[in-house]
Amino acid sequence: MSRGRHSTVASEPAGSPRMSISVQWVTSREGHEEFARLPYQIYGERDAWWPPDIHNEIALLAGRSPLSGHLNLAPISAYNDKRLVARVTAVINHRYIEHWKEPLGQLIHFEALPGQHEAVTAMLERAMEWLRERGMKAARSGFAAFLDYPYAIDNYGSLPSFLLRGNPDYYHSYFKNAGFATEKGQSDYTAALTTERIERYRRMIEATAAAKVVIKSWREYGFLAAIDTWTDVTNASFARHWGWNPVSREEVRPMMASLWDSPVADLSMIAMADGEPVGTVFSVPDLSYLLARVRQGVKLSPERGGGTRGALINIGVIDRMRGRGVACAMAARSFLTMAQQGMRYAGYTLVHDDNWASRRTAEALGARVTANFVTYRKDFDS
Ligand SMILES: CC(C)(COP(=O)(O)OP(=O)(O)OC[C@H]1O[C@@H](n2cnc3c(N)ncnc32)[C@H](O)[C@@H]1OP(=O)(O)O)[C@@H](O)C(=O)NCCC(=O)NCCS
Repeated sequence: MSRGRHSTVASEPAGSPRMSISVQWVTSREGHEEFARLPYQIYGERDAWWPPDIHNEIALLAGRSPLSGHLNLAPISAYNDKRLVARVTAVINHRYIEHWKEPLGQLIHFEALPGQHEAVTAMLERAMEWLRERGMKAARSGFAAFLDYPYAIDNYGSLPSFLLRGNPDYYHSYFKNAGFATEKGQSDYTAALTTERIERYRRMIEATAAAKVVIKSWREYGFLAAIDTWTDVTNASFARHWGWNPVSREEVRPMMASLWDSPVADLSMIAMADGEPVGTVFSVPDLSYLLARVRQGVKLSPERGGGTRGALINIGVIDRMRGRGVACAMAARSFLTMAQQGMRYAGYTLVHDDNWASRRTAEALGARVTANFVTYRKDFDS
């Protein structure tokens, strides 16, 4: 990326004091730290929120992440009167471009304070200019494998599901003012783990057992081997999944290895047919105690967290085994285990609106839509 480039725009909107807006490439250790901490200003006063993993974010910005070899990154900060008011990282994601044969740039890490239209527009313009200079024909914000998640269009102010954004409502006008439009919609689902549903889950598991599909937890399969199997099966089953790009064993192992002795090992599943892995589920327990910041005295609603909401984060079945109840059986066993561990709700996280197979799987599990999201896109010739 260009180093040390800096631009200042003086502006004087009617009725407000003179402001000085500047947009800067972030290259120093202190700059990365300030950039990574901006969410504290945006979400820090909330009753409950998921704080960023500052250490990992700085490693990514500094090019020291296991993903770094696949990316060119340009973090950009916007200042208004020397105060950091917005941030974004422009990304050339080589694996995405090669996989889809599409010169699409990505804008990740977007966060901004309210009332900063001019600074945010200038920042997004600069980010898009950087992408254009590198041959990109469009920019997407709100979906990139392991890097970015879509923007919430409801439940403003409340704790989102683990990994998902709980952005303020004004983010949408920032993107629309900069010429972006909704490219894709997504939903997050939640199932109440009632006695009747648990019986239904048992029947789903029995049906695949009769068809000689064996469902094993990652603990039963061997956790470290399960991580590599997850990578391989996910790459195969998500090959044509909109927005995804292949990922490597080398980057996934450090993300998941430390979970070997956690409930993840019992909640995550692998489906086997004829001794071969054909499907995987990655699920987590309720992480709100461990990872969310919850203001003292605040009680989360049981379907949002507080020890009662597990979540299925990812599910995939290879092509030749689809339509035989494998996804339902893996998810059913994961949800059943959540119930055995005392959870009362199970999330089924993030389904594209047109992913009928996954939506039907969620519905077959008795889940309902509890949050909605969008991904933005701008084509540079439009
Ligand atoms: C989504 C996915 C995991 C479903 O796996 P599967 O083993 O084929 O699903 P099941 O056989 O258990 O079927 C589950 C439900 O989906 C329905 N379904 C399956 N494939 C479908 C399709 N192509 N279109 C519409 N409905 C479909 C089934 O009929 C069943 O619903 P029902 O019980 O009401 O009849 C699989 O298609 C996949 O791996 N897709 C790519 C990766 C992906 O999208 N993962 C989910 C990300 S959110």
